[in-house]
Amino acid sequence: MTDHSGRATGNPARPRYLRGILPFMAVGALVLLSAPFIVHATRFGFEGLAADLSQGTHLFRVGAWVSNPAIFAHMVTGAVITLLAPPQLLPTVRNRFPAVHRAIGYLVCGCAVLTALGGLAYIALRQTVGGPLMDFAFAGYGLCVLVAASQTIRFARARAFDRHRRWALRMFVLAIGSWLYRVHYQIWYLATGGLWMEPGFSGPFDLFQLFAFYVPYLIGLEIYFRLKPAQRVQPAPAE
Ligand code: HEM
Repeated sequence: MTDHSGRATGNPARPRYLRGILPFMAVGALVLLSAPFIVHATRFGFEGLAADLSQGTHLFRVGAWVSNPAIFAHMVTGAVITLLAPPQLLPTVRNRFPAVHRAIGYLVCGCAVLTALGGLAYIALRQTVGGPLMDFAFAGYGLCVLVAASQTIRFARARAFDRHRRWALRMFVLAIGSWLYRVHYQIWYLATGGLWMEPGFSGPFDLFQLFAFYVPYLIGLEIYFRLKPAQRVQPAPAE
């Protein structure tokens, strides 16, 4: 069995019905687990766009006509990519409904660009709560998102599906990165009660976290690409 890029998909040793169901279960679990964060980001984003939140959060500043919409709109578009990037991995959707895959792909990558630009504008204008190192780490995250979104679309349009797949997987880990950042904190807090976490994000764990929500996942992907290069079976059929 091959996907739209002509690559072999699935493990032939696995029963056929499991091959179809497992990806849906994995993506469903991911969406359910990230749902509270998606709801938080959407609600917080729309509230900040619609009302004066200066009493409730440092992110809103009265009269900040660029940084306020930038940071709160980035939460809404960020919620969209956190929700829609995982289903893009489903082979069934990619193969049976390529038009849906394409439309959601444009939406995810478009929203990813807006999310990154909003976050970068906020960093440039207001700086983060964690200081220069957090500015640097989050700006690095934003730049990675910009590059991954552009390259994903570029290689899909060029029908270079191997390279499209690699960039799309990078885009996927980056899309869920903001949620992973919170997951790391929750797990660490449950396991240690907040060890090495300090106010102002200055503790050893906070500093580790600045990069740990995206860099190790990107490195893991590069290792995976080298260990398991894509098998080309036949050229991609024209759509
Ligand atoms: C992937 C999707 C993303 C989502 C869902 C998201 C969501 C959020 C949310 C909800 C907050 C407010 C934190 C709180 O609850 O107090 C926030 C803050 C922030 N985000 Fe994002 N974000 C995403 C991606 C990005 C990207 C790509 C950047 C890149 C520059 C970025 C930069 C920032 C910055 C600078 C802050 C403010 C940090 C501070 O408190 O100083 N975000 N984000």
